[in-house]
Amino acid sequence: MKVSKAVLPVAGLGTRFLPASKAIPKEMVTVVDKPVVQYVVEEALAAGINEIVLVTHASKKAIEDHFDVNYELEAELARRGKDALLKVLREIAPPELKVTAVRQGRALGLGHAVACARPVVGDEPFAVLLPDVLVEQAGEQPDLALMAGRFAESGQAQVMVEPVQWEQVHQYGVVDLGGVELKQGKHAAMQQVVEKPPRAEAPSNLAIVGRYVLPGRIFELLASTAPGAGGEIQLTDAIAALMQQGGAEAYRMRGRSYDCGSKLGYLEATLAYGSRHPELGDDFKGLLARYAQ
Ligand code: G1P
Repeated sequence: MKVSKAVLPVAGLGTRFLPASKAIPKEMVTVVDKPVVQYVVEEALAAGINEIVLVTHASKKAIEDHFDVNYELEAELARRGKDALLKVLREIAPPELKVTAVRQGRALGLGHAVACARPVVGDEPFAVLLPDVLVEQAGEQPDLALMAGRFAESGQAQVMVEPVQWEQVHQYGVVDLGGVELKQGKHAAMQQVVEKPPRAEAPSNLAIVGRYVLPGRIFELLASTAPGAGGEIQLTDAIAALMQQGGAEAYRMRGRSYDCGSKLGYLEATLAYGSRHPELGDDFKGLLARYAQ
């Protein structure tokens, strides 16, 4: 079954990103010239996923506004003949993009956030993209499209992973592949998946990077998932239950990820995306060389 919906949990307060995220959502902080969440929506669109379900919060209206038409701004740009800018503005929300928002009133964890999307997603398979993480693509087809393709083949949940430093495994969901060495762009059956294990108990250093393709039946499992790590309802725990029932697979990304939820990860993303920017890239690299001295 084709995956056409993506759930973006954006209700979190973004305390790791204060003071920047005091009055604007952390997802609206810009990397070069676009808010982080726009890159993530573009990633979904590139994988053929057009329906975005934002799981959001009262303080985050700017995200919905960003993907809505701003008629006054468009009319003014048209009046001034600023066609290039008008095009940029319209590309934020191309005609095929459909954005719906549901509220997560209380912050009870990622699993709870995803469960809030159930009335919109229904029984369909869907993707989950955590907007803290930017995924840089490598190769012709986006990693997310390959995951959706594999889901269509195997019917099994897909979880994107990448190796991290062992000192950092306690910050992630970590998968156990029973000793199978997973190459980039490949998938393997998961034997176990644990949320934020202490280093000594981590089954591997393959961490979940915030991209999932899940069957609709995950919602039933989420409904009966008890609070886990950090006292929160964890998506990882529901995926572990899914794995017990019929299997779930890990997919090792070919590109790389940037954790824009942390200040240093955000700075690195700015360097990477700034250097590759079609208009600013060359000048920006000049600046980098100057500041490196
Ligand atoms: C969440 C997930 C975790 C995953 C991580 C990726 O944790 O619960 O399994 O590895 O995102 O960024 P969070 O970073 O929200 O604590």
